[in-house]
Amino acid sequence: MSQNLNYELGTTDGKKTYVRGMFDSIAKTYDLLNHLLSMGIDFYWRKVTVKKLRNLNQDSKVLDLATGTGDLAIQIHKKYGAEIYGTDIAKEMLRAGLHKITDKPKIKFFCGDAEKLPYKDNFFDACTIAFGIRNCENVEKALSEMQRVTRKNGQIAILEFSQPENAFFKQLYLFYFKNVLPLIGNILSKHNDAYKYLPESVMQFPHGKEFYRILEKTGFTEIELKPLTFGIVTVYTMTV
Ligand SMILES: C[S@@+](CC[C@H](N)C(=O)[O-])C[C@H]1O[C@@H](n2cnc3c(N)ncnc32)[C@H](O)[C@@H]1O
Repeated sequence: MSQNLNYELGTTDGKKTYVRGMFDSIAKTYDLLNHLLSMGIDFYWRKVTVKKLRNLNQDSKVLDLATGTGDLAIQIHKKYGAEIYGTDIAKEMLRAGLHKITDKPKIKFFCGDAEKLPYKDNFFDACTIAFGIRNCENVEKALSEMQRVTRKNGQIAILEFSQPENAFFKQLYLFYFKNVLPLIGNILSKHNDAYKYLPESVMQFPHGKEFYRILEKTGFTEIELKPLTFGIVTVYTMTV
């Protein structure tokens, strides 16, 4: 991780404490900024992720990890009628999303750590995580936990930022991501470096083939990659 992130600057706290504190403090403006800075494409990215899930119905149980304010949880519930356990480490993110699920009794929010899940083995039919795996302190541990709590032959879907392949588009994207996005994000969220953390964490996170190998090492099978919007994000789906 980069040297200019607060959680490394002379504190004994690790990435987890930094990440939780950051999301707690930007929770109120998270949805607005998310949709504004992605120009609304994030709805489409989640929609593709939801469509990739197989064999879910109203009797299914789905874990949506790093659920934040619950957008992916809501889309999965709307499409399949499944019961959703939205789980996140940042209480304020969950609180900010509560108003969106008050009329949806089959979606419940829980405060919990992806790396130490409070669920029994094989409890879920599927597990999803959107823009969350990159934020975990120990990615391998979070993946193993996802595998543990999902039943055999259950499915896992991971939506995460990646990096465009096309050199010209990559330059445009990097300019926006490193200059425009932090400027708007920091002003509107009133947080000094949350939107600086975003591009830095994306640049450092393995994507494409590199992340595929980590998934393979975890023991997942039938791993598929679907890059979207010139590779800005990728949906990874796999079987437990
Ligand atoms: C960028 S937000 C994504 C929220 C939501 N999934 C979405 O699509 O908008 C990342 C979320 O990951 C959560 N998170 C980070 N580390 C976590 C962990 N170890 N366990 C659970 N949630 C975590 C953060 O609190 C934050 O709400």
